Amino acid sequence: MKRLRERMIRAALLLCLGVLTAAAASAQSRPAAAGKDPATDMRAVLASPSDIGEGRKVAQASCANCHGMDGHSTGKNVPHIAGQRPGYLYAEMRVYQAGGRPDKSMVDAVKFMNDDALWKVAAYYGSLEPAPPVAVDPKAAAKAAARADPVKAGKAVADSCGGCHGETGVSSMAGMPNLVALDPKHFYDATVAYKNGQRKHDMMKQIAAGMSDADLKNVALFYALQKPEKAKTPAAGDATAGERAAAASCAGCHGDRGVTSSATVPNLAGQDAEYFIEAMRAYKSGARSDETMKNAVAKLDEATIKNLAAYYAKQQPLPTKARAPLSTAEWVQRCDRCHGVNGNSTDPHMPAIAGQRADYHEKVLHAYRTGERKSSAMSAMSGTLTEADVEALAAYYARQKPRSVIYVPVPAK
Ligand code: HEC
Ligand code: HEC
Ligand code: HEC
Ligand code: HEC
Repeated sequence: MKRLRERMIRAALLLCLGVLTAAAASAQSRPAAAGKDPATDMRAVLASPSDIGEGRKVAQASCANCHGMDGHSTGKNVPHIAGQRPGYLYAEMRVYQAGGRPDKSMVDAVKFMNDDALWKVAAYYGSLEPAPPVAVDPKAAAKAAARADPVKAGKAVADSCGGCHGETGVSSMAGMPNLVALDPKHFYDATVAYKNGQRKHDMMKQIAAGMSDADLKNVALFYALQKPEKAKTPAAGDATAGERAAAASCAGCHGDRGVTSSATVPNLAGQDAEYFIEAMRAYKSGARSDETMKNAVAKLDEATIKNLAAYYAKQQPLPTKARAPLSTAEWVQRCDRCHGVNGNSTDPHMPAIAGQRADYHEKVLHAYRTGERKSSAMSAMSGTLTEADVEALAAYYARQKPRSVIYVPVPAK
């Protein structure tokens, strides 16, 4: 009871957090009706000490086995619920009852519980001191640092390519392909093809062999994000004649003016003419084996190839669809918009994620992604998170200090 009293005192201090809603004002005369909308129900939020005492009994009988009486869980994938926002706790138990979250242990725990028990036990756990955050693990921190910004890592790799391909992938040496405006997938496939000998070129084979798979992906992303420019190399053919030939036999795959929308068909806009001509010869001779291109070049004479090269070299390449991935810090900014500063939500129906167990956090993000757990706010977001993002975010929030918030009714004006 001492703890409870302390918390009531603290309540007054926390008023300045400004979390009071209009609903709070009317909740002085506490609505008792069950079946209210759980998303706005304020009963658990504005519970009295005696309500919380009753909730404690429910916890003892039905929850403590897994969540502990203190709400600090010790089991894998079992969330901490101490200090969690009470409106959220109550709403989630209703979700388990309604079959919206399939976890069997929880469904069994709340299946036959009446509404009164639910909001009171939510109030009890919500009133407790949150579990302490995990300490910063130096090993994990080193791992996170090593998972450096992929674009920066790509730039470091690209430093050894600039001598031939130009600093940002814009060629100024005839015979060297432009590397800007290439879709990262085509870029990656091309380097792998050099590596495994499918595409024959001794020099590029050697260079590609020196790069790890991660290097290849990073450098592909780096070039895809550079400003696209035409190669600064001469093109001798007749571009007007080339335009006609291109429209007749190439545009279907390589797009209008050499800008493609498919990841597997390379961009030709702005490409170095000499490289272009070499590539066409290689398809013709079979030195570069590709069935689609073999057919496309079969009937072309040297003059037409030269004209096509001149036409494409003059076209303006466009930016690729590639986007730099967000860093963990940038993700956190987005998450905090809803979940509160460092995951400390000030909305009684929005879950706090500060100090939450990382294993549970990861499990939940996966559940949103697969649709096992439904939330319009979370599913769109979790779909774009990579596995590395999920791990980094779960680890980040597990280290944040959780702060409880007490909701106190203000008298109506
Ligand atoms: C047999 C073990 C077990 C018991 C008993 C149990 N829980 Fe749970 N609880 C879990 C597990 C596991 C999860 C995570 C389930 C999931 O991923 O959906 C969970 C999740 C929850 C959640 C969702 C938390 C969140 O952050 O979304 C709430 C709320 C909760 N429990 C409250 C309770 C209450 C209150 C009781 C007692 C009435 C209780 N639980 C009894 C194991 C248990
Ligand atoms: C010594 C000069 C040289 C260096 C250094 C070099 N390249 Fe190349 N690269 C070439 C040449 C020449 C070709 C064209 C080979 C061919 O005809 O297939 C090429 C082709 C490529 C292609 C295929 C382009 C396409 O449109 O299909 C990619 C991708 C590529 N290089 C990436 C790189 C990367 C990444 C590096 C640095 C790690 C690099 N290259 C370093 C000379 C070089
Ligand atoms: C049926 C679809 C198709 C048609 C038609 C087609 N291409 Fe291609 N082209 C491709 C694909 C796919 C590749 C990638 C092949 C590879 O990986 O080597 C490619 C590759 C190329 C390349 C190599 C680009 C690079 O960066 O290395 C050039 C040059 C090229 N095409 C020119 C042409 C021209 C000129 C025509 C018209 C005469 C043409 N293509 C018609 C599908 C097509
Ligand atoms: C637009 C608002 C919004 C944003 C942005 C947002 N969330 Fe959420 N999040 C929610 C809502 C609403 C819920 C509760 C959904 C439910 O009932 O399942 C939630 C639930 C969660 C949960 C489950 C909490 C629990 O205890 O089970 C986790 C974990 C979570 N979010 C993590 C994140 C992370 C990480 C990010 C950033 C990548 C993020 N959220 C961004 C609104 C948001």
